[in-house]
Amino acid sequence: MNHQKVLILDFGGQYNQLIARRVRECNVYCEVHPYSMPLEKIKAYDPIGIIFTGGPNSVYEETSPHVDAEVFRLGVPILGICYGCQLMAWSLGGSVTAATDATAREYGKTETYFTPTCKLFHNLPEHGVTWMSHGDYMEKVPNGFSLVAHSDNCPNVAICDESRSFYGVQFHPEVNHTENGTKMLRNFLYEVCHAKGDWTMSDYLKTQIVALREKIGDGKVLLALSGGVDSSVAAALLAQAVGRQLTCVFVDHGLMRKNEGDEVEAAFAKWDINFIRVDAERRFLDKLDGISDPEHKRKIIGEEFIRVFEEEAKKIGKVDFLVQGTIYPDVIESGLGDSAVIKSHHNVGGLPDYVDFKEIIEPLRMLFKDETRQLGRELGLPDYLVMRQPFPGPGLAIRVIGDITKEKLDMLRDADAIFREECAKAGEDKNLNQYFTVLTNMRSVGVQGDGRTYDYTLALRAVTTTDFMTADWARIPYDVLDKISVRIVNEVPHINRIVYDITSKPPATIEWE
Ligand code: XMP
Repeated sequence: MNHQKVLILDFGGQYNQLIARRVRECNVYCEVHPYSMPLEKIKAYDPIGIIFTGGPNSVYEETSPHVDAEVFRLGVPILGICYGCQLMAWSLGGSVTAATDATAREYGKTETYFTPTCKLFHNLPEHGVTWMSHGDYMEKVPNGFSLVAHSDNCPNVAICDESRSFYGVQFHPEVNHTENGTKMLRNFLYEVCHAKGDWTMSDYLKTQIVALREKIGDGKVLLALSGGVDSSVAAALLAQAVGRQLTCVFVDHGLMRKNEGDEVEAAFAKWDINFIRVDAERRFLDKLDGISDPEHKRKIIGEEFIRVFEEEAKKIGKVDFLVQGTIYPDVIESGLGDSAVIKSHHNVGGLPDYVDFKEIIEPLRMLFKDETRQLGRELGLPDYLVMRQPFPGPGLAIRVIGDITKEKLDMLRDADAIFREECAKAGEDKNLNQYFTVLTNMRSVGVQGDGRTYDYTLALRAVTTTDFMTADWARIPYDVLDKISVRIVNEVPHINRIVYDITSKPPATIEWE
């Protein structure tokens, strides 16, 4: 890749991915590597700048992570954030101690005052809120460094040695709570590292197409398409690169949302590729008949998926490459460098071991989710595919509580479509990270027209979250909920009651099963 590169050395901070995303948002390519990356590799990487992340340790402890001091002699600009700042100070002859005095420890939003002549703070307001999270304190800054920011409690919030292009901040510029934080990172990238801003998706697309064509030659490529964002974008990229050498197998298990299967198929119709849509609804429903335990349902679906995929792969014969839609957060989370095999099962919930291929291609493994979406747009995928919310592999099977029938799935599909339509109409969809309906297996008495009904209760679920590990229930306005409720009970037969799930995760989970 010919892009300029920034190297992010990870010291175990909780925001390391966020730093990388911010740098990429500034149109500069970067990668996160462990702090232990050998010096020779750092040199070979040839970064225009290095960022040290925060981390949970104290630099003065013997076991805490350090860098080879030669890093400071490479002539490459360095920005240290929080622990990274203390590490730089400590490594270059300053001193760092535990803040015994509560005033020198800082957590949370802190009013901070900046020296605007420092390149990091150029053209930015002279004071603003920063996000702090440190219990250690830089008692003495190294020779050659100046103090360039302070807070009411702490005299040395940021340091710099502009002659060597070394900068350190105690706060976290990458989090949104820090006012102008991204602009500070941008100043580091553009004013200090002289970035050109050469990381754009259209450029990435061009270089990937060339690289993929070179790698694949006239080989055959197989991809399991789930209809999710990552596998759809990977498929579109490969379609553009190698056309008919690509076969996409889309296993339609009948547990998709309304019109989803057709939408996926339509999106790929414009490319001259081998697209196989396997209508496996009957197979899956037969296997799921009478099963109400959620884990049992998941297992059946995972296994059946593999069986169908295997059968199709066998028909195609020998393939050279298997494509996976692994994205960068998966790579970072599983430890850089070793992730290919671990994640080869990631997107389809398991692939057969003996599909005959010689290599896995992961064309998105350096992209964040939002970059993957951008790439999808560059490739001309429609927004309904690119902006899709996460959808679990077992699909609607885990949103019909208890045993599953086609009738129940159809009711759920219709109700879910109304929920999504009304959220979009009200502009609420932009505020929600995941939202769907659940068909409970509870029935209750109602009255419709002049008659008594004894029908199903449908639950609406909508959450806001950043990581899907914790989530808050979304405060959808009452009038929007009212509209949704009225429409569903009027338009979907056999649903006579709507409830809204107001539990967060924890203690609940996002899905009901
Ligand atoms: P929970 O319900 O555990 O969900 O809070 C967290 C996120 O994971 C998705 N999810 C799944 N995805 N297979 C998947 O591919 C599954 O079995 C599964 N279960 C939950 C869920 O939709 C949410 O985004």
